Amino acid sequence: MENKSNTNSPLGVGGELIDGKAIADQVKAEIAEEVKLMVAAGKRAPHLAVIIVGHDGGSETYVAHKVKSCEQVGFTSTKITFEDDVTEAELLTKIDELNKDNGLDGFIVQLPLPKHISEQKVIEAIDYRKDVDGFHPVNVGRMSIGLPCYVSATPSGIIELLKRYNIPTAGKNCVVIGRSNIVGKPVASLMMQKGYPGDATVTVCHSRTKNLKEICLQADIIIAALGMPEFLTADMVKNGAAVIDVGTTRVPSDKTKSGFRLSGDVKFDEVAPKCSFITPVPGGVGPMTIVSLLKNTLLAAKGEIY
Ligand code: GUN
Repeated sequence: MENKSNTNSPLGVGGELIDGKAIADQVKAEIAEEVKLMVAAGKRAPHLAVIIVGHDGGSETYVAHKVKSCEQVGFTSTKITFEDDVTEAELLTKIDELNKDNGLDGFIVQLPLPKHISEQKVIEAIDYRKDVDGFHPVNVGRMSIGLPCYVSATPSGIIELLKRYNIPTAGKNCVVIGRSNIVGKPVASLMMQKGYPGDATVTVCHSRTKNLKEICLQADIIIAALGMPEFLTADMVKNGAAVIDVGTTRVPSDKTKSGFRLSGDVKFDEVAPKCSFITPVPGGVGPMTIVSLLKNTLLAAKGEIY
């Protein structure tokens, strides 16, 4: 991407703001083009199903975005809604049905689920070949040993941004802050994988890490994924580092209609002037996550994961 920094930019000279929305639009256009070619060749369009249980506002918004994104790239989508008193057995029966449905390439069960349903049981009931969320242990295991698999949305989005901005990773010190199963662990695994983006020397830090500041100061790339608003401050970042902010915490705000705004894990205004690259929140990693789901569904439709 072009350097979009200007005189109003919080970035230092040569620093580049990573535009996740622009990259997401670019990848969506590429997917749409591929779908057009598939359909022109007589194949059916990729088909994603989304199961949603109950009426959690956040989940309904996410699912609406996923369905809309499918439309934008020419996929077929099916939304399956259950009330929040659905039994685990009923949900597992539906999953079994979707696993066997040849007209469906992939599906996801939107999380979180009501307490009486085991999320792990649900995830493991999905055929890993249709698990476009990349949460099934087979996909997680395959990813960690570098086999073809579905990579989960946020790690995949981060890797795509590094690639599209040609951010050097080989031999670089990459510090991941946070060790969650859905971001910290998989992104650390991808960054140490052979190839590009990868070949990094990775350190994973968490709530029990000692000397966190000293470790961060050695980093060429910092991936902040701990879920603590404005945790990473300028004194923890060396000049020229690339900083990827995965945080999306809703914090009270008197400047928005909703009374909330999204806060990242990075104190952006003071960290940005030191960075070679930095993602904003919102507009950085966030827009890439749905694109990753679309990419996985396209892979599924092409039969590339088996
Ligand atoms: N809830 C929040 N993010 C996700 C996601 O990526 N997949 C699913 N299935 N549920 C979510």
